[in-house]
Amino acid sequence: MSGTSLDGVDGVLAEFPADGSDTPVSTVATAYIPFPAPLREELMALQAPADNEIHREAMAANLLACHYADCVAQLTAHSGIAPAAICAVGAHGQTIRHRPEAGYTRQINNPSLLAELSGIDVIADFRSRDIAAGGQGAPLVPAFHQAIFGTADETRVVANIGGISNISVLDHGQKVIGFDTGPGNVLMDAWIARHLGGSFDAGGAWAAGGRVIPALLQTLLDEAFLKLAPPKSTGRDLFHLAWLENKLSGFASAAAQDVQATLTEFTAVTLATAIADHARAAQAVYVCGGGAYNAHLMHRLQHALAGQGHSAHVASTDALGVAPNHVEALAFAWLAHRHVERQAGNLPSVTGAKGLRILGALYPA
Ligand SMILES: Nc1ncnc2c1ncn2[C@@H]1O[C@H](COP(=O)(O)OP(=O)(O)O)[C@@H](O)[C@H]1O
Ligand SMILES: [Mg+2]
Repeated sequence: MSGTSLDGVDGVLAEFPADGSDTPVSTVATAYIPFPAPLREELMALQAPADNEIHREAMAANLLACHYADCVAQLTAHSGIAPAAICAVGAHGQTIRHRPEAGYTRQINNPSLLAELSGIDVIADFRSRDIAAGGQGAPLVPAFHQAIFGTADETRVVANIGGISNISVLDHGQKVIGFDTGPGNVLMDAWIARHLGGSFDAGGAWAAGGRVIPALLQTLLDEAFLKLAPPKSTGRDLFHLAWLENKLSGFASAAAQDVQATLTEFTAVTLATAIADHARAAQAVYVCGGGAYNAHLMHRLQHALAGQGHSAHVASTDALGVAPNHVEALAFAWLAHRHVERQAGNLPSVTGAKGLRILGALYPA
């Protein structure tokens, strides 16, 4: 898995029961390959129309496939399990456009090269079929969240705070609700990179030393996407540095650190509002994705929920036995397994698709 944050590749080697069922699933090995700066910059550049982009996209996809293959090689080396014993690799690819309203989404990848390099069947392009069936193609993780975290004992929200945030509402016996709530880390990452360098605000320490600017927060919250009813999904297509600069036009004298505090609050408040509006009954919110490591953000999320009169307790998915940085990679292993078993991977109640669909395409080893 490599997500909107453009930080790198998260990999897991997962084991499913021999009877073909999709739970329980156990993690056998994990690996993380950070993107080198030039690849990260090229992937960032390809998020918007660029010169000679067909060639550049293909070259970036080839390089990505090499990093995915390195990740797979680390997983086999760490576990001692030979490629021939592995059923499939689920490879999400790198999103450079997400335009469900125009009928497409683009996760660049070279699955043929990955199959060639790894010697393992590859399942890729998970989102396109859901869009072909009239859905958003996103989020796809709720079906997995329901399968591994759903329980009759507790009404739960799983909040995935990557570059963009999404929630899954797991209320036993009810259809799963899930949608993108808005930015996760994407604006905070861009802002700290511009002002202090570095790729993220570790622990949210910089934001924690600033003060939220209420008028700016309100300006950010006025974004139309946030008021849309689900199904909905978003990406860097909407939430990028130019979007932020536009919102900042009336706040020229704001201190950079106070803007960071406001961006962190923005992520917390948009998540809390989505949870208050769509998961009133939730007793707990389990956070995954890199945002779970931002202690200040976690604290502000708990505070924002209380501010909306919501009593749910915020914890990371560690409390459910899965480390926050492994959840999404495990989800794509699960989706690949669903493909192999010719089972649907989407939830029409989440994406808005016409029906259940088998997701992804197979590239044989
Ligand atoms: N220790 C940390 N403190 C604050 N933020 C963190 C920390 N570790 C990771 N993150 C955030 O998480 C992001 C990566 O999250 P990830 O779940 O991989 O997102 P994506 O799926 O978009 O790639 C980083 O860009 C950063 O913003
Ligand atoms: Mg990532």
